[in-house]
Amino acid sequence: MKDTILVTGGAGFIGSNFILDWMKETGSSVINLDLLTYAGNPANLSSLEGNARYLLAAGDICDVQRVASLLLADQPKAIVHFAAESHVDRSIASPEPFIRTNVLGTFVLLEQALLYWSKLEEEDKAAFRFLHVSTDEVYGSLAAEDPPFSETAAYAPNSPYAASKAASDHLARAYHRTWGLPVLTTNCSNNYGPFQFPEKLIPLMILNALEGKPLPVYGDGGQVRDWLFVGDHCAAIRTVLEKGCVGETYNIGGNSERKNLDVVNAICDLVDEMSPNAGLGPRKNLVTFVEDRPGHDRRYAIDASKIERELGWRPAEGFESGLRKTVRWYLDHPDWVEGVRTGAYLDWIRQNYTERVTP
Ligand code: NAD
Ligand code: TYD
Repeated sequence: MKDTILVTGGAGFIGSNFILDWMKETGSSVINLDLLTYAGNPANLSSLEGNARYLLAAGDICDVQRVASLLLADQPKAIVHFAAESHVDRSIASPEPFIRTNVLGTFVLLEQALLYWSKLEEEDKAAFRFLHVSTDEVYGSLAAEDPPFSETAAYAPNSPYAASKAASDHLARAYHRTWGLPVLTTNCSNNYGPFQFPEKLIPLMILNALEGKPLPVYGDGGQVRDWLFVGDHCAAIRTVLEKGCVGETYNIGGNSERKNLDVVNAICDLVDEMSPNAGLGPRKNLVTFVEDRPGHDRRYAIDASKIERELGWRPAEGFESGLRKTVRWYLDHPDWVEGVRTGAYLDWIRQNYTERVTP
């Protein structure tokens, strides 16, 4: 094997943060297999241009030949699998791409990884890792008084996105249990930070607040998410790759449960402070309650005590400081924002919000 890792979906939000972090923290190389869908943006990695340790391999994880030939040619010591369709609202509007990439794509990767791994020398076989990145959404929804999700919580996915990720987790588990492929699975909570595509709550609200547009809060805004700063997630993945026990699952969370409405109000205050606009008035006035998401999960929360106890990882960033850094990043990167607002993005915003009636 070479001192190289194969990252899938590395042009997306978490994958690109992970690659930048990996290049800084380690000496090994990265091959980034990414289909460059609407969510994949090579500009996230423009700082690596000309770096001999990084290569973008544009391609589809569902393409058996492509995956097989990359593994054969590049002989990676690990696969870190981020590639997915990742937006719940899109999975409700159109589930098919979620089944294709998240279920079929993960199957193709596992199958080709198994073929590659089974032919390695014993020492390399023992060192190889397949890290499958998943979500807390596979566990379904918590009531206010329920304990947070631990690794033994029952699977109860509620959206087509969550169901497709749950299916991929089961496949990853089966390839370990049946054939011994050294799989590790991580289930993390909602990430936020630089490079997040502005269809997700935090970047959408930052940009709308900045531009004085309505801030569309679904339902009553009382849903709770456990926010994890993306840099902490990247460190957790490095830790799991280095020290995790094969066949195990690790839940990763930010110890930062917040109601959506509180998150939106905190963003308004930060944007008012960092980009004052007297003509607009307080951005909180832009909050608009809109029709709820069907099957909307009320609360997610992660019990991350296993990864802390067994591997020594815990989140370093607090939510208020992480949110401040994130707002600052979006204000400082108007070119990036402009670049991701393609026609396809505008079509999505029209479809999801224009047709969403205010109750
Ligand atoms: P993202 O949507 O920002 O990026 C996904 C990337 O995968 C894009 O670069 C896209 O081009 C690529 N991709 C899509 N289909 C592909 C295919 N068939 N072949 C190759 N590449 C393909 O997603 P993200 O937010 O960075 O999430 C990364 C992973 O983390 C996903 O598996 C997601 O389920 C998981 N996750 C995300 C969050 C979150 O809050 N963002 C939380 C928990 C888990
Ligand atoms: P999102 O960022 O889509 O992540 P997920 O659905 O995977 O948790 O949404 C986070 C929360 O914010 C979720 O409860 C839905 C809500 N939300 C809104 O209220 N308005 C919006 O415009 C969006 C995109 C999300």
